[in-house]
Amino acid sequence: MKTGLAMLSMVAVLTMGAAASRADCPVPPSLNQCKTCHALEPGKPSRATGPNLNGVPGQAAMHAGDFKGYSPAMKAAQAKGVTWTDDNLFKYLGDPKAFLAEANGEPLKNAMMFQMKDEAKRKAAIEGLKTMAACQ
Ligand code: HEC
Repeated sequence: MKTGLAMLSMVAVLTMGAAASRADCPVPPSLNQCKTCHALEPGKPSRATGPNLNGVPGQAAMHAGDFKGYSPAMKAAQAKGVTWTDDNLFKYLGDPKAFLAEANGEPLKNAMMFQMKDEAKRKAAIEGLKTMAACQ
């Protein structure tokens, strides 16, 4: 009986371990285009092509401490206190250069050469970022 219980709890621990693993945190399809440049999984290092985006919603600009390629525009935005609210993410994804120029009050060099014009896709991508943020 005791052994049976011990076995059961071992199975429970193993199952919980698996639930917390990356296998259960697939990157949502709404973020497929982002994967070209960004790592999205928790704890993964940033790629040379873009900062890791895990947990970015709600954070200050330049949230990935290990990314070396932040642009002058992103550095200025961080200095101005820009945070990744839903609204800011929505504008940034639609036109990174224009969003940063407006936030900074001057056009500085930005580094994300990607735009997502479709509003529904942008909203889905922001939801996708939140899904990934919940997956720590
Ligand atoms: C062609 C490469 C590329 C693609 C594709 C791309 N990004 Fe980026 N992204 C970058 C780079 C480079 C930066 C750094 C920008 C800077 O410093 O100006 C960045 C920065 C960001 C930031 C700011 C991160 C921070 O640390 O403050 C967010 C948010 C972001 N990207 C979201 C996305 C999302 C969501 C997608 C997909 C819908 C996407 N990006 C697709 C290259 C890319």
